[in-house]
Amino acid sequence: MLSTGIRRQPEAAESRTVIRFHDVERGAHASDAARLLRDSWGPPCLRYSDAYVRWQLTFPAAVPARAVVASDGGRTIGFAALIPRQISTANGQAVIYVMTFFAVHPDYRGARIGAELARRIIEMSDRPVVTFTEPGSRSERAIAQSASARGWTFRHMAALRTYAGGQAPQPESSIVARRATAEEFVAATKNHEPTPVAWSEPTLEQARHYLSDPRGSCLAVAQGAHGETLGAAVIVRSELLTAEGAEDVPALDMVRAHDRHAAVLGAFRRFALERSRGSSVVTAPNLDVVPAPAVRQAGFRATRSAFNVAILGHPAEPITSEVVSTDLEVF
Ligand SMILES: CC(C)(COP(=O)(O)OP(=O)(O)OC[C@H]1O[C@@H](n2cnc3c(N)ncnc32)[C@H](O)[C@@H]1OP(=O)(O)O)[C@@H](O)C(=O)NCCC(=O)NCCS
Repeated sequence: MLSTGIRRQPEAAESRTVIRFHDVERGAHASDAARLLRDSWGPPCLRYSDAYVRWQLTFPAAVPARAVVASDGGRTIGFAALIPRQISTANGQAVIYVMTFFAVHPDYRGARIGAELARRIIEMSDRPVVTFTEPGSRSERAIAQSASARGWTFRHMAALRTYAGGQAPQPESSIVARRATAEEFVAATKNHEPTPVAWSEPTLEQARHYLSDPRGSCLAVAQGAHGETLGAAVIVRSELLTAEGAEDVPALDMVRAHDRHAAVLGAFRRFALERSRGSSVVTAPNLDVVPAPAVRQAGFRATRSAFNVAILGHPAEPITSEVVSTDLEVF
C-alpha cells in the first residue's frame, strides 16, 4: 500500500487537514467507497449499495480492479477505481479498464483532491482506459489533464444518450427475447466481424459474475423464428433515487444486435418490462452501436441524460487511436 499526503488549503489554519492517498487492494474499501458515492450525488441519481460496489471491484479478469482512496484521518473522502472488462476490436481481444466510482466528498471539493486521484489512477493503468463522464464536467477535465500529463492520448469517442422505452409498440412476434445461460450469452457476444468498435466480449467466468450482480441481473438472448441467435443483452435492475424516493428501473446494458436491429431491440425492451413486473419504463444508457432509426423503431426515445465516452491510452496503442465506439455498460 502506498501512502503520501497533500495538504488541503482551507482558509482557516486550524482547520488544515492532511489528505492521504492510498492504492488499495482488489475489493478493499468497497463499503467506504459506496458510502462516499451515496454522499456525492443528490437525486435523481443511481443508488450505490455496498454490495454493488464490491461486486464491481471484484470483477474477475486477467488483471485485477485497481483503486485509489483519499482519506482524512480514518475517513474516506475521495475514491477512484479502474475496473477490468474484456473487449474485442478489429485487432482481437484485449482487457481494458473502465475508470469509475470517481468522487470527492462535497465538503472537500475544489482542493484538487479529484485532480490528484485522477492523476494517480491513470498513472496506475498499464492498459487503455475507457471513461464515461458528464459532458463538460470537472471529472472529464481532470481525467483529460491527467492523461495528457502522462503523455497519453485522451480521445472523445461518442456522446451517449440515455434512452427510455415503454410498453408500446408491440415487438415483432417472430423474434423472441429470453433468459440465457452464461454459456449461451458468451456464444452470442462472440465477435466475428472486425470493426472499429470495442465490443464487450465477456469470458464465461465474467458472464457468471454478471449473474451474481447484487442489483439483480439477467443475461438475455434474442432468437428468430428458426431458433437462430440474433442478439444479446444484459438486463439489470437499477436503483434510482428521485425526489419522490427510491425506484427500481430495469436497464438494458451491453446490447448487441447481429441483424434486424429494431426488432431485436424491441424484443429486449418488452422482455425487460415483462420480467420487471411493475415498471412501465426500461432505460438503455448505451445504444451507440445500434443505428439511430432502429432505436426509434424499437420504441425508445432520448432522455435528457447524456454521457461522453472517451478512451485514453498510450498513443502507440492501436485501441487508443482506432476504436470509435463501444457497447460497454455505462457505470
Ligand atoms: C468530479 C470531482 C471528483 C472533482 O473533485 P474535486 O476535488 O472537487 O476537483 P478538483 O479540485 O481536483 O478540480 C478538478 C477541476 O475542476 C475545477 N473545479 C473545482 N471546483 C470547481 C467549481 N466549484 N466549479 C467549477 N470548476 C471547479 C478545478 O478548477 C479543476 O479544473 P482545472 O484543473 O482545469 O483547474 C467532484 O466534483 C465530485 O465528486 N463530483 C460528484 C461526483 C462526480 O461527478 N464524479 C465523476 C463521475 S465520472
